[in-house]
Amino acid sequence: MVKMFLAGLLSLATLLPAFADGANYDESKVPAYTLPDPLVFDNGKPVRKARQWKKRRAELLETFRAEMFGREPAAPRLRYELLKVVPDALGGLATMKEVKVLLEPSGEHYMVLLLFVPHAGKSPAPAFLGLNVCNNHGTTSLEEVSLPDSLQVLHYGPYYKRMERGEQTRRWPYEYILSQGYACCTVFMDDIEPDERDSYDFGIRTVYDQGKPRADSWGAVSAWAWGLSRALDYLAADPDVDAARVAVHGHSRLGKTALWAGAVDERFALVIANDSGCSGAALSRRAFGETLSRLNRVFPYWFCDNYKRYSDNEASLPFDQHELIALIAPRPVYVASASEDLWADPYGEYLSLVHATPVYRLLGYDGFSSLEMPEIEVPKVQGRMGHHIRNGKHDMQLYDWQQYVAFANRFL
Ligand code: GCU
Repeated sequence: MVKMFLAGLLSLATLLPAFADGANYDESKVPAYTLPDPLVFDNGKPVRKARQWKKRRAELLETFRAEMFGREPAAPRLRYELLKVVPDALGGLATMKEVKVLLEPSGEHYMVLLLFVPHAGKSPAPAFLGLNVCNNHGTTSLEEVSLPDSLQVLHYGPYYKRMERGEQTRRWPYEYILSQGYACCTVFMDDIEPDERDSYDFGIRTVYDQGKPRADSWGAVSAWAWGLSRALDYLAADPDVDAARVAVHGHSRLGKTALWAGAVDERFALVIANDSGCSGAALSRRAFGETLSRLNRVFPYWFCDNYKRYSDNEASLPFDQHELIALIAPRPVYVASASEDLWADPYGEYLSLVHATPVYRLLGYDGFSSLEMPEIEVPKVQGRMGHHIRNGKHDMQLYDWQQYVAFANRFL
């Protein structure tokens, strides 16, 4: 099966666009590598008992902060303003709310949360929480969802172009998710930090850095993850949502973000990374598809400056991405890939689960152990890990959601 899958990868590789700048899609060219062992302390001593994990976890988290994601500020005291309530949204399926969450004391930087609470099912409802790349109004064609106001647009920076209403409805099948009894909550990522190389001056990072970033100051991914925790702060204050049953999810760059949010904030009960790729679930040392050096060059603002030291130098990384998964243990984690998304290295994404399994086992739960690449569209759940490869391109579609809902049904 591995061979068949790899042969598929090879034939697809020839179709990849030229922008993939010399990326490797040949499994036989993956360099030999040794992964760091999550169950060994930095001083070389082994982690033998479950009760030692807490200490090792703190050590690993610190290394990821210092060398990759950067250091985020502590949670501020938040203020919320309920902007809008639509009691019978989506044909009576849900109550829709828009909530302003003020992210810093002056009240100038805020994010607007879009929340749908299902009318069916038990209350308070479990929820899926994830950022969007398309504005809240891009996730649905519902006319009631507000367009960003002028202050929001100011903070999106000079490159912002407003998305069309409903532009990405395929990635946000609200009706389906709500009909399964889950609330859905989203925020436009640029409300927190604009996703542009030169936009540092407009987002939340500069406010907390006082305009002077250090080599280990938070990157944009960390800022987005921090924003997810602030959204969870709000959900904990909303009686319609059960904040102890919130699944954090994200696609692609936001999949990287969801993993980090889940690693940092143990209140997230379940974590889903959809096509998260390089610096998400994929093992960096494989250098298959997108590499760390390419990512650091094209998106230098996603991670902290220290991370640049590992461009073309993956062997010296003090961690690899399986340890990011390990930081989520023992909570349930789901990693998904797409068969044509070689840029994100589907096999490397799967292997991270396999290599995080020893930590899940130490904590009393199972995970994946087979090195065999799973078959396309044969989703698997083992212990507290879930995985599938959807047929097709880099995207988040109804098929993916159906697996996430089934996984959440087991654990939330
Ligand atoms: C680029 C980037 C990826 C990222 C993706 C996305 O392709 O290289 O790392 O995951 O954008 O966010 O869609």
